[in-house]
Amino acid sequence: MAALTFELIAKDPGSQARLGSLTTTHGKIETPIFMPVGTQATVKAMTPEELVEVGSQIILANTYHLYLRPGHDLVARLGGLHRFMHWDRPILTDSGGFQVFSLGELRKISEEGVQFRSHIDGSKHFISPEVSVAIQEALGSDIAMCFDECPPYPAEYDYVKKSLELTTRWARRCKEAHRRPDQALFGIVQGGMHPELRRESARQIIDIGFDGYALGGLSVGEEREIMYDMMQACSDILPESSPRYIMGIGAPEDLIEGINAGFDMFDCVMPTRNARNGALFTSTGRINIKSAIFAEDEGPIDPACDCYVCRNYSRAYLRHLYRSQEILASRLNTWHNLHFYLNLMGEVRRAIAEGRFAQFRKEFYARRAMAEP
Ligand code: GUN
Ligand code: ZN
Repeated sequence: MAALTFELIAKDPGSQARLGSLTTTHGKIETPIFMPVGTQATVKAMTPEELVEVGSQIILANTYHLYLRPGHDLVARLGGLHRFMHWDRPILTDSGGFQVFSLGELRKISEEGVQFRSHIDGSKHFISPEVSVAIQEALGSDIAMCFDECPPYPAEYDYVKKSLELTTRWARRCKEAHRRPDQALFGIVQGGMHPELRRESARQIIDIGFDGYALGGLSVGEEREIMYDMMQACSDILPESSPRYIMGIGAPEDLIEGINAGFDMFDCVMPTRNARNGALFTSTGRINIKSAIFAEDEGPIDPACDCYVCRNYSRAYLRHLYRSQEILASRLNTWHNLHFYLNLMGEVRRAIAEGRFAQFRKEFYARRAMAEP
């Protein structure tokens, strides 16, 4: 059996949005989908049962972090990442490319790979495309990502061109090194904020051939409009029959725009990290629960939300928990934010199935009193 199959179920008549079904070794997921981020083999503050309860179908974990601690060999000895963390549904692992590049001073890039110092203890390490694939195979994720270079922003055309060519050579090496027949491998398109370089990168990565295609190097400080242009630049080049993933994105409106441009998968720390900082998503926009205006507010976070938190707790109580730095604040806030993101994806899928995504998108912006991009 193939490691991954993607079935395109419907295309929206008024946009490029797609409804699909992705079958992995650990089961099926519906697309468009949001993947909660579990960097350290845990989606912070949530048990796997709670993740299912809020509607998670697939989660993301990070090669870089799990390689450093507890070590991929240890995870493999203990039966792989699914068993280790008690999550028997699909897992996607990021390759470490992006995390290593975020280290700044602590790293050195060469043709062979990246040398870096651990953010934990300063020890020296080296990750190459082959090492990244070996780590991801040891972890046993359902979907592995190619090891790529994410150029900084802003970056000159010539630098970005050289960088995307390195990413292509690394992608070829990842594909050659990849052995596990039960694990899919996705390619990553780079190209900075230059549409023609995005298209060039997409052509090169598609030419190698992968189980799915991702856009990397977005949400690195550029204006929203530029990011949306990069999505559009690639969307008609990527094969229709493959899943398409935008990495590290984003705010709810970024997901809507990615889906509008024909992308299927998204991940971001935004719902989980914001939750721990008291920033909560609602159908009419974002609120911060620490605000004094909620001191005696008996209403739920979002009257339009039917999650466990909104059914049972007031804004006043959640504000109190947050201000008192109680552990339950992180748990309940994360619960609501993930439910919000995953429920939004469910609403999007229904809208696409019924051929009304374009209308859904208009209403999404109208509810938030935001201009459509
Ligand atoms: N996560 C967010 N952006 C990126 C990227 O450009 N590359 C990788 N590997 N992961 C990412
Ligand atoms: Zn809620």
